[in-house]
Amino acid sequence: MRTSAFIDKQIAMIRGKVGKGTALCATSGGVDSMVCAFLGYKALGRKLIALFIDDGLMREKEARTVSKILRKHGIRTVVLYAAKDFFKALKGKEDPEDMRKAFRDTFYKTLGKAVKKYKADFLIQGTIAADIKETKGKIKSQHNVLSQIGISPKKYGLVIIEPLVNLYKPGVRTVGKKLGLSKDIYQRMPFPGPGLATRIVGEVTPPRVSIVRKATTIVEKELKRFKPFQAFAVLLNDRATGVKKGKRAFGNIIVIRSVESKDALTATPTKIPYEVLEKIQKRIVREIPQVTKVLYDMSPKPPSTIEYI
Ligand code: XMP
Repeated sequence: MRTSAFIDKQIAMIRGKVGKGTALCATSGGVDSMVCAFLGYKALGRKLIALFIDDGLMREKEARTVSKILRKHGIRTVVLYAAKDFFKALKGKEDPEDMRKAFRDTFYKTLGKAVKKYKADFLIQGTIAADIKETKGKIKSQHNVLSQIGISPKKYGLVIIEPLVNLYKPGVRTVGKKLGLSKDIYQRMPFPGPGLATRIVGEVTPPRVSIVRKATTIVEKELKRFKPFQAFAVLLNDRATGVKKGKRAFGNIIVIRSVESKDALTATPTKIPYEVLEKIQKRIVREIPQVTKVLYDMSPKPPSTIEYI
């Protein structure tokens, strides 16, 4: 189907379902949810509210950056601060699927509350075909795939609309471009719903998130010119001895992860020039006092996955 025909069809579908009602669009700033917000806005105008949940697991300055873009395009935008709830739910959890479950549950409870608060009738969300495939393949339970893991969205008081559910990432980017999103957005690296929690091995706590967030900013900045499919930092649960300010330190270990992929179903590590890796290592160890070691992850998918939990 041509892109413009796809867009028209989805706009008509959203209008048809929502009718005279109101819809919330869960917007994290990633390309999938941004495309959904724009489609929703085209279909519903001011009857669409883009909801950015600040779960404390986002990249630096994300709430401000994303809400600014949405508002600039005339989209009604609400930022909801819920970091406390997410950290409470994640406390003490170390098993990846327990972490995903805790995140998902808090995410949908928060959405359920917001839907009531704003008297919305529908929730639009940017689930794409790959999310469903991975969840059905039992590789990971993606945070936004409820019915496939046997949960009825009604449990959270939600009626969900998923306009992108048949598209893979390249298709979503094409739709984004056609909708007039800026290149920065439609070419943006994928960022998983559970955010930096998928890049922390072991317990997710505010201090640990702060370490991985700082490292993420450095990795993204230094690798931007290589246009990787996805590049980020990971915080391991182990520690390693190093020397900080002339003293022995038993510090944290950060992994640099950068992969090339089309649809995230398979991936290969980016061939980063050695000098660039060296620069990233130096910056991370210098700018983040708690880190003593930096590693580069060379694993393709499969057998690895892209994220760490
Ligand atoms: P993995 O780690 O399974 O990731 O190789 C494949 C792609 O999916 C993203 N990802 C998620 N996206 N909710 C999302 O919206 C999730 O729960 C989730 N888990 C992984 C990941 O960033 C990669 O692009």
